[in-house]
Amino acid sequence: MTALAASTGAAHARILGIGGYRPSRVIPNSEIVDLIDSSDEWIQTRSGIRERRWATPEETVQMMSVEAARKAIERAGIAPEQIGCVIVSTVSHHLATPAIAPMIADELGCDHPAAFDISAACAGFCHAIAMGSDMVRAGSASYVLAIGVERLSDMTDVHDRGTAFIFADGAGAAVVGPSDTPGIGPVVWGSEGEQAELIRQKVSWLEALAEDEPEVPWLMMNGNPVFRWASFAMAKYAQEALDRAGVSVDDLDVFVPHQANGRIVDALARTLKLPEHVKVARDIETMGNTSAASIPLALERMMEQGEAKSGDLALFIAFGAGLVYAGQVVVVP
Ligand SMILES: CC(C)(COP(=O)(O)OP(=O)(O)OC[C@H]1O[C@@H](n2cnc3c(N)ncnc32)[C@H](O)[C@@H]1OP(=O)(O)O)[C@@H](O)C(=O)NCCC(=O)NCCS
Repeated sequence: MTALAASTGAAHARILGIGGYRPSRVIPNSEIVDLIDSSDEWIQTRSGIRERRWATPEETVQMMSVEAARKAIERAGIAPEQIGCVIVSTVSHHLATPAIAPMIADELGCDHPAAFDISAACAGFCHAIAMGSDMVRAGSASYVLAIGVERLSDMTDVHDRGTAFIFADGAGAAVVGPSDTPGIGPVVWGSEGEQAELIRQKVSWLEALAEDEPEVPWLMMNGNPVFRWASFAMAKYAQEALDRAGVSVDDLDVFVPHQANGRIVDALARTLKLPEHVKVARDIETMGNTSAASIPLALERMMEQGEAKSGDLALFIAFGAGLVYAGQVVVVP
């Protein structure tokens, strides 16, 4: 039998550019507390959130993605036509088909790349970075655009005490491309489907529509077990990502965990025994939990504020509905 030709790609991959989009509507805790019989102090103490952004009708999933991606592409120093694959991680594009990725690619002026959506909730961006890294090294695409985007305000019941103050909107994007040296460490990822009930939409859209008084199938979360799972298990996986990349916490410059809750961020930093010099992302304070967008948004802010600089080593760890998780060590672009 004739042997098939195999594709080969770059020796290594790295993130070449990061971009974010923060929606224009700022929602302070004071706008939410009466709806859920809470207080600014309770929300800040339990979650570390002071305010979040909720998108306006014009700030669609596509619009926010395109804005974030334009910045990432420009910072990567490539042309949209060079992108061979667009991966969009989202749970809030409300069409099962078509995916939003082809439309985003088209609006960006890409040259008909592979384009598809993935659903890995708050861990989606780290999944997309891992896939992008593998594609670049396998030769499936020279440049991969990874986008994490959410409009969770569309799916959050503002009267739900367990979610209304947490979930928010935004977009983040990264261009992954070839590199002479390793810039994206091995991914540590996995799923625990036996815990799927902890964060989920209440019912499917079909079930929701079959009701006499249909309402959006809101996101529901059993916060306490999620909190405990995230605080302990994620430290173990984050450490595994460091080990697999062959570095220690002392080598790190930046820690960018998924921005789910300020107390989870603190617990992870403590358990990992991060040294003083490691800067820790705290975007949650002003952005809430933007799910797949949270890590690129947090890193972009740290770069803009000089807390992270090009060449720094950053540790990502993300987790969410599924339950699923993914993390890796990356070189800051
Ligand atoms: C949601 C979360 C902040 C709640 O904090 P918690 O410490 O677990 O709070 P509990 O649900 O145990 O409730 C504690 C008390 O606060 C009260 N409470 C719950 N929600 C409240 C609210 N929004 N405002 C005021 N009080 C509230 C409860 O009634 C309870 O009161 P009691 O002690 O008198 O019975 C926390 O569980 C969490 O952050 N979980 C992880 C969420 C997350 O990261 N999700 C994203 C994963 S991608």
